[in-house]
Amino acid sequence: MCGIVAYIGNKQAQPLLLEGLKRLEYRGYDSSGIATIDGSSLKIAKAVGRVANLEAELDSLGGLQGSIGIAHTRWATHGSVNKLNAHPHRDRDHGISLIHNGIIENYASIRTLLEAKGHVFETETDTEVLGMLISHLYDPDNGVDLEKAVQGALREIRGAYAIAVICQQEPDVMVCARKGSPLLIGIGSGEYIVASDPSAIISHASTAITLDDYSVARLTRDGFRTTTVDNVELSPKVMQLEMDLEEIELGDFEHYMLKEIYEQPDALRRCLKGRLDKNEGKVVLGGLNTFAKELVKSRRVILTAQGTALHSAMIGEYLLEDLAKIPAECEYASEFRYRNPLIEDRSVVVAVSQSGETADTLAALHEAKDRGALSLGVINVVGSTIPRETDAGVYLRVGPEIGVASTKAFTGQVAVLTMISLFMARRRMMSPEASARLMNELERVPDMIEQVLETDKRIAEITAKYVHRDNWLFLGRGYNYPTAMEGALKLKEISYIHAEGMPAAEMKHGPIALIDEGMPVVFIANQGNQYDKVLSNIEEVRARGGHVIAVATEGDKQIESLAEDVLYVPAVEECLSPMVTVVPLQLLAYHAALLRGHDVDKPRNLAKSVTVE
Ligand code: AGP
Repeated sequence: MCGIVAYIGNKQAQPLLLEGLKRLEYRGYDSSGIATIDGSSLKIAKAVGRVANLEAELDSLGGLQGSIGIAHTRWATHGSVNKLNAHPHRDRDHGISLIHNGIIENYASIRTLLEAKGHVFETETDTEVLGMLISHLYDPDNGVDLEKAVQGALREIRGAYAIAVICQQEPDVMVCARKGSPLLIGIGSGEYIVASDPSAIISHASTAITLDDYSVARLTRDGFRTTTVDNVELSPKVMQLEMDLEEIELGDFEHYMLKEIYEQPDALRRCLKGRLDKNEGKVVLGGLNTFAKELVKSRRVILTAQGTALHSAMIGEYLLEDLAKIPAECEYASEFRYRNPLIEDRSVVVAVSQSGETADTLAALHEAKDRGALSLGVINVVGSTIPRETDAGVYLRVGPEIGVASTKAFTGQVAVLTMISLFMARRRMMSPEASARLMNELERVPDMIEQVLETDKRIAEITAKYVHRDNWLFLGRGYNYPTAMEGALKLKEISYIHAEGMPAAEMKHGPIALIDEGMPVVFIANQGNQYDKVLSNIEEVRARGGHVIAVATEGDKQIESLAEDVLYVPAVEECLSPMVTVVPLQLLAYHAALLRGHDVDKPRNLAKSVTVE
């Protein structure tokens, strides 16, 4: 939800922190701020809006000096979007400043207690309460230094946090901690760079300290120490950062979203590489081998996710039942975690998440694990929280996804869920020949996507015909019902046009009342086993004046007499078709957002990873 970055070392902190903020801006961009300690004086600068506004503010101040600093780009949870509520926050008594990603759930009661002790608050945020509590506990003359004060405060709060704290009375110390929100500590030579994710660290460090929940790290230029919030020493966990810089550079593209749409063929090739043994007709997923027997003997699979990841998980449900013949269901994580779900023995839960940090998905995973389910993760960000908490999993390997609107992660998730289904199917009833045939078709999907990308110009032209319309429907059947949901979400989240995705047949049970003259209705009408039914639904829409935009199979002439516009895709096996039929919908949304003049990569109100509930 927010991006935090912090630095302690021997270089000037400000340029490094600004670079880090720009890398993290996709995580939240309401406002931003920076604090440094120069000698023993704490200085803070903040600005509303993009990081560029903070740079202008810093220029007007002549910049902030100091080789220790913290910085934050905000997605507002508590408190409106203004300069006062922007982080970093500071106290009045000791020059303690902090940045925070997460939510302090019991901040109101703590604020009341602190106000009763005479503390005066300036902002509406929960973060200021945490900072004030640290300040209230800080008592270096009696042995409560910054590390101890932070530990003490964290023992009192409930909620999620990733924080970095500095104090002008201890200018050579930084204290970081996390619970439920992501935080990594990049290890440089005589320096550390702390951030919410690797993208702000990789140009400075190739290894990082990862903190488990309730861990605290005390950093100085001479070294670090990690403890629990009860000050019990912990042995540090260090990981290799698997990301290189060009993966997160924009290159020749105007937007990350377009770059990531165009990356899909190569991203999928990386995702599939080394995982399809066509001689044996077996999928090779090293991360699942330990649990292969349990997976094969499992009685039910529950897939859980949010947003785009939920749509790919819905396709996973169809794939598991269709290919592996195992009962499967897909649930919104936010619903699953609270509805007291039934988890019989030999159940498997699959958490699908690009970021591996989505709070609801993590909580649903915990709920299923607590009830005895074997847990798998289908995740893109290596070393993120969910894969650290599942029994096993499969990484997408599609590379960092920066655009807030998820694209290559969707096709990567569908590819991985296809491979997991084949992994199980082949160890249950599927023959080597049937499995190898599907694998051959799966290997052709990247080429098919390349063919669709060549029609980008035509997709832009068709989008322009309808972009002024404020209400759209997206309809599909079978495997492409979730694809229709995904197409609607893409259009909504970056063009702000209202769109609904649903099963094509459901339209007649109410939504058909919405159709008026010229309303754009997008059908996924590729030639599959419900093709004729989709044609009937198209007729029903046309009869009421709707304008049909059909995603159809190359060579299909019949559709041309029914649809106003046709977006062609290559013929593809139905169970693999969402990876191909989604691409015109991604490009349609992209062009609609451009035509409407919106910020494609940082759409309003959104953030890349929803790490709060
Ligand atoms: C998709 O375009 C959105 N950005 C959003 O729905 C996203 O898919 C959802 O928040 C889940 O994120 P995750 O995959 O990182 O868990």
